[in-house]
Amino acid sequence: MKILVTGGAGFIGSHTVVELQEAGYDVVVLDNLSNSSEKSLERVAKITGKRVTFYKADILDREALEHIFNSENIDAVIHFAGLKAVGESVQKPWEYYENNIAGTLTLVDVMRRHGVKNIIFSSSATVYGNPAFIPITEECPKGQCTNPYGWTKSMLEQILSDIQKADPEWNVILLRYFNPIGAHKSGTIGENPSGVPNNLMPYITQVAVGKRKELGVFGNDYDTPDGTGVRDYIHVVDLARGHVCALKKIEEKAGLKIYNLGTGVGYSVLDIVKNFEEATGVKIPYVIKDRRPGDIATCYSDAAKAKEELGWTAQYGIKEMCEDSWRWQKNNPNGYED
Ligand code: NAD
Ligand code: UFG
Repeated sequence: MKILVTGGAGFIGSHTVVELQEAGYDVVVLDNLSNSSEKSLERVAKITGKRVTFYKADILDREALEHIFNSENIDAVIHFAGLKAVGESVQKPWEYYENNIAGTLTLVDVMRRHGVKNIIFSSSATVYGNPAFIPITEECPKGQCTNPYGWTKSMLEQILSDIQKADPEWNVILLRYFNPIGAHKSGTIGENPSGVPNNLMPYITQVAVGKRKELGVFGNDYDTPDGTGVRDYIHVVDLARGHVCALKKIEEKAGLKIYNLGTGVGYSVLDIVKNFEEATGVKIPYVIKDRRPGDIATCYSDAAKAKEELGWTAQYGIKEMCEDSWRWQKNNPNGYED
């Protein structure tokens, strides 16, 4: 089977390309490199020993998409391409709706014109808003998102669901990721944020490597065991493998399916600091700051449905997530610029 991976040069995409190639799939990557480097794909080829067919293209560019679908015999699309910075989306809502929603509509239109009706979409736990209950099952109602990025995920879930309902030939799998961290064991591919990291683990690794002075912990007065925010961190390689399992489900004619991809375990910010220090031997100085607007106290998954229906469970624990994040950062202090 030949799989088109949009956004395949990015963090989760590059790890997924490794797992797909290792599972025997032919992989074609499309990425406009707006938040990634082509070097990630060179490193992927070193890991797997297989070259990746790469198109530098934008999902908004219909002609480029037509060219790819005319040239390659695509069976299914794993759709990672999108803008994902929560804070930036508040400043630039038009750009987020245009890129993520108009881009996906263009992609899906070209897909159907070419009779390719299989898609796995990168959604997010953010669609639950402030979740109605914890642990979060897929039945938990979608909530009010606090930023345009979150709304693009929520709206795209609705759009793709409606398209599948109108034309049951479509197989649509919506994967709601919890908090991906970690990196490939080789330490050659990993998360490569531009500027000051928004997310916890890349901030911690940049403190560890000496690029930042200290971690700011956003609030210690939440209703959680130690007062800091609790999240469901998942190793990016486990997340990537979840896509391989989802592809098998697509091959069995999935229809419309929704799965949480998480571990089912919640860790607080201070738990992560402590685990990182224990796993790496590097001390992380931190200061308590105000809460970050839009953050919720607690978010972790019930991961039973993916286990039952996809045969997927996360294999890696927090120690490996910390060790692998650190190996990537230590070997590549400037990401793919090194
Ligand atoms: P990433 O930024 O590393 O990867 C996204 C890739 O898409 C980048 O390589 C970027 O260059 C590319 N891209 C963006 N707009 C494009 C366009 N118009 N045309 C072609 N390529 C485009 O991010 P990631 O962390 O790997 O996330 C992948 C997907 O998973 C995204 O859709 C993201 O919203 C979603 N997601 C991520 C997280 C997370 O915490 N990392 C959590 C939930 C969901
Ligand atoms: N945090 C800090 N200091 C930092 C960064 C984060 O204390 O410098 C805290 C946050 O307040 C939160 C926790 O660490 O309690 C995790 O924050 P992240 O920014 O790493 O992750 P979020 O849970 O806020 O959001 C992430 C992605 C979203 C996605 C969501 C659910 O950024 O895109 O996970 O999948 F929607």
